[in-house]
Amino acid sequence: MLQFYPQIRAVHVTAVIASGMIFLVRGIAVQARAAWPLAAPVRYVSYLVDTVLLAAGVTLVVVLPGAMFANGWLEVKLILVAAYIVIGTFALKRAHTMRRKLLFFIAALCTYAIIITIAWTHSPLGPLIWLLH
Ligand code: HEM
Repeated sequence: MLQFYPQIRAVHVTAVIASGMIFLVRGIAVQARAAWPLAAPVRYVSYLVDTVLLAAGVTLVVVLPGAMFANGWLEVKLILVAAYIVIGTFALKRAHTMRRKLLFFIAALCTYAIIITIAWTHSPLGPLIWLLH
C-alpha cells in the first residue's frame, strides 16, 4: 500500500482544502443570516467530503511507518480535529446568538489552521514550533 502514499496523501490534502472551503463559505453565509448552510443537500455534500478526508487520513496512518508518529503529533492533531468538529457545530448551528456564532467560527478557523501546521511540521507544538526556533 505504501506505493500509493502520494495518491492517498493527495486525496487527503484535496479533501482538507475542500472541507475547509465549504466550512468557510457556510460560516460566512450563517453570519449573513442565510438559511441554506443548514439545508440537507449542503450537509450531505459536507459529510461526503469529510468522510473522504477521514478515510484518507486513516489510510495514511495505516500505510505509514509507526515511527513517523513517535513524537505524538498525530494524537494532538486528532484531539484538535474532535475539538474543531464540536466548535464548528456551535459556529454553524448550536450557538444561540450571532455574536457567539461568530466567536465560535473564528475559533474553528484558528483550530483548523493549527491542525494544518501540526500536519505540516509533524510536531505536536504546531505553530509554536516557529516561535520556539
Ligand atoms: C480537520 C481535519 C484534518 C486536517 C485539516 C488535516 C490536514 C492535513 C494536511 C494539510 C496534511 C499534509 C501535510 C503535509 O503537507 O506534509 C495531512 C497529512 C496527514 N494527515 Fe491529516 N488532516 C486532518 C484530519 C486527519 C485525520 C482525521 C487523520 C487520521 C485519522 C489524519 C492523518 C494524517 C496523516 C497520517 C498525514 C500524513 C503526513 C505526511 O504524509 O507527512 N488527518 N493532514
